[in-house]
Amino acid sequence: MERFKGKIATVTGGASGIGEAVARQLVAEGAMVVLADINEAGLEALARELGRACLPVRTDVSSEADVQAMVEAAVSHFGGLDIAFNVAGSARMSALIDQSEADFRFALDLCTVGTFFCIKHQARRMIEANVQGAIVNISSLNGKVPSWGLAAYSAAKAGVDMLTASGSLELADHGIRVNAVAPGMTATPATTYMTDEILGAYLERIPLKRPATARDQAMASLFLASDDAAYITGVCLNVDGGWQHAAYPDMRRWFATTPDSLS
Ligand SMILES: NC(=O)c1ccc[n+]([C@@H]2O[C@H](COP(=O)([O-])OP(=O)(O)OC[C@H]3O[C@@H](n4cnc5c(N)ncnc54)[C@H](O)[C@@H]3O)[C@@H](O)[C@H]2O)c1
Repeated sequence: MERFKGKIATVTGGASGIGEAVARQLVAEGAMVVLADINEAGLEALARELGRACLPVRTDVSSEADVQAMVEAAVSHFGGLDIAFNVAGSARMSALIDQSEADFRFALDLCTVGTFFCIKHQARRMIEANVQGAIVNISSLNGKVPSWGLAAYSAAKAGVDMLTASGSLELADHGIRVNAVAPGMTATPATTYMTDEILGAYLERIPLKRPATARDQAMASLFLASDDAAYITGVCLNVDGGWQHAAYPDMRRWFATTPDSLS
């Protein structure tokens, strides 16, 4: 499959996890990729592996100057920008009443302000060059549902969802589509802290009964950036194994009359 042959992409958070999987799949499908991250060693290692289709650029997405330089690197090195994947994100866990201002702002700066800087400069370049491009933001299921200790992260990711919706509205005249993927629990370096006990508690609630892989998230993201999604803009696509809709416990265990077809 070469859906992205000759296309030029940026991928933030590209040194690890979902961003790395996005970059690998893009290169496999013919794209040239500016790999952006604050993890320089990770960037260099992946760029060496992916070869000339990949340019590592140290980028802190919470710095507007860095984001601008990332977009300029795509233009000066590869000749333009067609598609963008804004993946970088994280947060510091804390009970809401104990959270410091600095830790709360960390999530907002990285996830929300970082995504704003990315959309702004990516779209400006696409408009200047008359490119009908596509932007995909990585949000989270936490942008839609809260979780203990993740108030800052949920607020920041809800902001990403609204930036996606707003961007889709404002950029449609230019033929630029803006969408998001909302991952559920995904096996990446960010979730290796989970013990078997924690993982088991999560899986009880996930209808598809497994964590997502980084590749699951990458394939959904690439679909939204591809021509197959030409009429899709402004959506935030759950890639969560059905998790958002599993608010209720599995009721079958309390009903003796469960039809065989449901047991
Ligand atoms: N793993 C999950 O379960 C999960 C669930 C929902 C959403 N997400 C979201 O998916 C995205 C990727 O997460 P992941 O699980 O692959 O994590 P990860 O830790 O494997 O990768 C995140 C990458 O972002 C980079 N990064 C951090 N701060 C940065 C900054 N200021 N500028 C540029 N890069 C920076 C890190 O160096 C790292 O390489 C994040 O936005 C995260 O919020 C992950």
